[in-house]
Amino acid sequence: MYFIANWKMFGALNSLNSLYKVIKFSKNFKKRKLIKIIYCPPNTLINQMFIKFKNSKIEVGAQNCHEFDRPGPFTGSVNSMMLRNVGAKYVIIGHSENRKKGETNKLINLKIKSALKSGLKIIFCIGETIQEKRKKITNQILNNQIKIGLNKIKDKKNIIIAYEPVWSIGTGIIPKPRELFETIKFIKKKKNCKVLYGGSVNPKNLDNFRSINVIDGFLVGGASQNPKKFIDIIKKTYN
Ligand code: 13P
Repeated sequence: MYFIANWKMFGALNSLNSLYKVIKFSKNFKKRKLIKIIYCPPNTLINQMFIKFKNSKIEVGAQNCHEFDRPGPFTGSVNSMMLRNVGAKYVIIGHSENRKKGETNKLINLKIKSALKSGLKIIFCIGETIQEKRKKITNQILNNQIKIGLNKIKDKKNIIIAYEPVWSIGTGIIPKPRELFETIKFIKKKKNCKVLYGGSVNPKNLDNFRSINVIDGFLVGGASQNPKKFIDIIKKTYN
């Protein structure tokens, strides 16, 4: 099971001080062999985190990258090679918070290709908006996101899909277990790879996900900034 922390635009150098709790947990947890913990902080913290996690199995990822893997005159951008260079092994691509700002499926496809070329593993986010859900076109939307986003990409083993319904992110609202089960099964039928769930996951609502045996892990936003909550999510997954 994957447990991925997406810190979004949160965190400063002193936010790293409490990570020793997660490091300790990752070394002592009885089921540690069954879990993979990945932290995706803002770019400003990737290298410091990488150094902090050096003697542990926790890995580090970024939250986005430019679509070119080479250096170039792109003010404010960071490419996948640069992320590798500072210790990232993963990159989140296609997060709805970036899709909202204009990232298209086509651009996402270019980013995934470039990041794979640089040797990064991809956490590929897909998900429908509330309007799309109401129109009952969720599967159509997901199919499109997968088809265009992963167009001409054969590499399955370096891609993890994170299903994040947009209406669930940061709202405290989570999908009904049956619906989530069906949606994840649908995604796996389209692309046979690991599929995580993301959207308002916290220790309190984790029981709702435990029975859904097709989920391969969680992409956690808000709750991941608190080491205790993040650890509790992992513990509760196995309780
Ligand atoms: P929340 O867990 O804060 O709802 O965020 C989910 C998310 O967007 C992770 O990528």
